Amino acid sequence: MNKISIIGGTGSLGKGLAYRLLKSNYQVCLGTRSQEKADSTIEFLKEKLPKECGENAFASDYVGACRFSDVVFLTVPFASQLSVLEMVSAELQGKILVDTSVPLEPKNITKVRIVSAGSAGKQAQLALGDNVKVVSGFHNVAAASLFSDQGVSCDVLITGDEFDACDEIINISKSIGINALYGGGIDNSVASESLTPILIGLNKQYKSKSAGVAFNL
Ligand SMILES: NC(=O)c1ccc[n+]([C@@H]2O[C@H](COP(=O)([O-])OP(=O)(O)OC[C@H]3O[C@@H](n4cnc5c(N)ncnc54)[C@H](OP(=O)(O)O)[C@@H]3O)[C@@H](O)[C@H]2O)c1
Repeated sequence: MNKISIIGGTGSLGKGLAYRLLKSNYQVCLGTRSQEKADSTIEFLKEKLPKECGENAFASDYVGACRFSDVVFLTVPFASQLSVLEMVSAELQGKILVDTSVPLEPKNITKVRIVSAGSAGKQAQLALGDNVKVVSGFHNVAAASLFSDQGVSCDVLITGDEFDACDEIINISKSIGINALYGGGIDNSVASESLTPILIGLNKQYKSKSAGVAFNL
């Protein structure tokens, strides 16, 4: 059985991804700073899932969660990205880190924000070094759309300098009903990250909850 860890798995996106992964028979470790928060998240997931899937949900602190699996999702607020990565960097060496961070302007979350590293994904790769395969993605899927039993109707772009690592994450994504497409190297992460504030703006403008993009291939 495949194991996946989600640092920040008690939050909106992490919980939604955990739901879909557990439903597809992955073992999932929620990385958390709070055992209490993890307990209530696991209880929430167990209520929504068939019994045998709920049994595969675990929790640990951030470092322990990185030990659990060779594929680690990071779903913490962008403001915490670097401090969390610094904490777990040693444990991530040789592994795949899937960074979902989107830099948002705190005062206007509908405005595109480009950080000095070029993107959050690039910032993660620079912080962790070349021995960690950073894959950036899932920026354009709304957490709210993950708690359904149907496939998600939008696509997500996956970027990263190691194609095989991106391909592994694309396959995992497809296996949980999220269509993922390879969008090029980590420098391109800025494109999908920048779409997110626009999607948030579309949700506000058109009173939607989960605006997304689908590519016509
Ligand atoms: N929400 C979405 O629809 C969505 C969609 C696409 C991308 N994203 C990206 O995914 C990431 C997570 O978003 P989210 O909406 O899931 O975030 P969230 O619910 O606010 O927080 C996620 C988790 O991050 C952990 N965390 C670590 N440091 C934190 C801090 N200083 N303050 C607050 N929480 C902290 C918390 O887990 P513990 O307390 O258990 O440690 C928290 O449950 C963000 O980078 C966001 O840009 C989100």
